[in-house]
Amino acid sequence: VIYLILEKKPGDPLIRQIYEQLRNMILKGELRSGAKLPSSRAMAQHFNVSRNTVNEAYEMLIAEGYLDGVQRLGIFVARGAVLIPKPRKTTADEQYSAFAKEKIDEDAICFHSGTPAADLFPRSRWNRLAYAAFREAPESALGYGDPRGRVELREALAAYLHRRRGIVCSADNIIITTGAKQAISLTAKCLLEQGREVYIEDPTNRNVWKIFGYHTQSLYPIPVDGEGIIPSLLPAERNPTLIFCTPSHQFPLGGILSIQRRLELLSYAERKNCHIVEDDYDSEFRYRGLPVSSMQSLDPDRVIYIGTFSKILFPSLRLGYVVLPSPFLERFAECKMLGDHHTNAVNQLTLSRFLENGDLERHIARMKRIYRRRRDHLISCLRDAFGGRVTILGEGSGMHLTAGFRGVAFTPELLSALNRKGVIASAVWEHTANGSDHADKLILGYANLIPERIEEGIGRIKTVIDPLLHTHQDLSFL
Ligand SMILES: Cc1ncc(COP(=O)(O)O)c(C=O)c1O
Repeated sequence: VIYLILEKKPGDPLIRQIYEQLRNMILKGELRSGAKLPSSRAMAQHFNVSRNTVNEAYEMLIAEGYLDGVQRLGIFVARGAVLIPKPRKTTADEQYSAFAKEKIDEDAICFHSGTPAADLFPRSRWNRLAYAAFREAPESALGYGDPRGRVELREALAAYLHRRRGIVCSADNIIITTGAKQAISLTAKCLLEQGREVYIEDPTNRNVWKIFGYHTQSLYPIPVDGEGIIPSLLPAERNPTLIFCTPSHQFPLGGILSIQRRLELLSYAERKNCHIVEDDYDSEFRYRGLPVSSMQSLDPDRVIYIGTFSKILFPSLRLGYVVLPSPFLERFAECKMLGDHHTNAVNQLTLSRFLENGDLERHIARMKRIYRRRRDHLISCLRDAFGGRVTILGEGSGMHLTAGFRGVAFTPELLSALNRKGVIASAVWEHTANGSDHADKLILGYANLIPERIEEGIGRIKTVIDPLLHTHQDLSFL
């Protein structure tokens, strides 16, 4: 006798219920190989379902090899369909815990850096352009395309980058990527092999350490001060393949690399015959004067220039780019093709219209005004709350600043205490090579916070760290 539990439920057809329950019994060995199943007529009568329903479930199981139908004799459980259970090492939930940790409590005030104000994105304008781009796209745009990206976007981008950042390139030097992280990954994949050395300015976004770390174990940190990477500390005796830096707005300390340091870095790269990876992730938002020019403009053959639309538009768009010296183009394009073939073509076509119509520059100008006000408000809240006990770094551009609190160490325990008070922020040490330097500094992203939330957030931070500032006490009690 076969025991099945069948229930009439919307969205769960009886055929599927019969199929799944029989399949599970076979996989667990509860229905042994060679056992004969009741006829479809008997099953249908017993479970009060139609004979067709049973037949269809039997047919699915026969098609997948769980059952054998033998003419005139009946239906039998097939051989070799028993699954020997293995203990699960970890559940998907446990595996995913690293990401789950990042789940954000909606009420918490999140000072994560690099998050643009999503509510101010001109959605209807983008929507109109996206609709027109899709409607008017040639049929070829719906097929597999050029791995380097749509030529319309690459051309518009080459003109924009030349105008805004002094980049020297043609559309042919550009590969459109699925964000800057993919551009960094492609660079590592194409140019590194085990044993090759990468210099990385320290601190640097921790994801950058991880990306390069997948490709080589030879990561060599180069210290950074308030003006960015320190070229005099580049070792004379080593031979790197790549030097990673963020010269327009050092992440996370915010320094802007002077022309003298840029030239020193380039002449070192020339001597070592290596390349510089310039990550220009948020330089469009410069609050004093014009945007700083790129390093790429000083030596287009030595510099791999990486940019993203995650900050000026929105992160889930997943659009970025890499501007390459010509000898690297073929390899990068092939690597991109073997990965995801190319980045979403409809988004690329929409963005090319957004660029050509001047929408992008208008959007940047508007956001810059808003972000500047938010930044000013954050600075004044920090000053009001902490006076001379806070040091502010990197406020000249971008979407975050760094606040140093002398005598405080933002240990994981202290960051959790902030979390419990409803504040999410990361500390600079989380982005350092040794995981301990710059312990007194917090990264405060302000672009996505209205002034009231900024004020409330700083108030919450104050309640947690004020006692520590006054007493300089050891934090181990937390
Ligand atoms: C230094 C740096 N580069 C690049 C990015 C952007 O990455 P993506 O374009 O993949 O969103 C970030 C994101 O926060 C960053 O901090």
